[in-house]
Amino acid sequence: MSSDSRRFISHLTDRLRSTERGYPFEWEAPASVAPYVPTPINIVKKMLEVGGAGPDDVVYDLGCGDGRILFTAIEEFNVKKAVGYELNASMCEAVMRKVKNKGLEDRIEVIRGNFFLADLSSATLITLYLTTSGNAKLKPKFEKELRDGTRIVSHDFPINGWMSMRIDEAFHNDIGSHRIYLYRVPESFRLEERKGPREPEAGRWGRIRDTFRGTIRS
Ligand SMILES: C[S@@+](CC[C@H](N)C(=O)[O-])C[C@H]1O[C@@H](n2cnc3c(N)ncnc32)[C@H](O)[C@@H]1O
Repeated sequence: MSSDSRRFISHLTDRLRSTERGYPFEWEAPASVAPYVPTPINIVKKMLEVGGAGPDDVVYDLGCGDGRILFTAIEEFNVKKAVGYELNASMCEAVMRKVKNKGLEDRIEVIRGNFFLADLSSATLITLYLTTSGNAKLKPKFEKELRDGTRIVSHDFPINGWMSMRIDEAFHNDIGSHRIYLYRVPESFRLEERKGPREPEAGRWGRIRDTFRGTIRS
């Protein structure tokens, strides 16, 4: 067997052994589960407040966009560390530049990559602004990887099948009302979901798309 073949087999074996996460191979993981739409800054603050962000927290923003949740968590909530995953390369580079300019390299980490392949075991607070179907795809990963006590705060989209510990309503001039769902591991997935009417995903995104119509504002 050639040394190239040996290296390839060893690489595959390492990937299989080294990960207990759901997707040992990158091509098996779901890709983008949400378009880029920023959370308005006042809603970012409310999300971190609802999540109880503080100095002991390691915050993960899954799909971090322009990094606004990461910077707010560090600069206004003084969390220990903030980690962002983002598929969009140019957004990622812009966030990395901003991190460097602000001298926050030891507090903010930005990873250009798919969060389905992330190791979430060190997170204590996770923030999401994705889609209901995206959250559903993350659910088994959360149930497997997250440590007890981790909180998850989701902007506008629930984790169906999990019970929220709290649902807040917040307001922004452009879009109107936003929902903020708080979940906690493991209570939220051990308790039965509260029954209630669900807003159809297309309706919600349609409303947001109509409001933004191509102009992204904070
Ligand atoms: C609605 S935006 C939210 C941005 C930011 N979290 C905020 O609240 O302002 C969703 C972001 O998730 C990113 N995204 C979607 N699926 C992803 C995946 N599988 N891995 C990494 N990023 C992803 C998109 O590129 C997009 O920037």
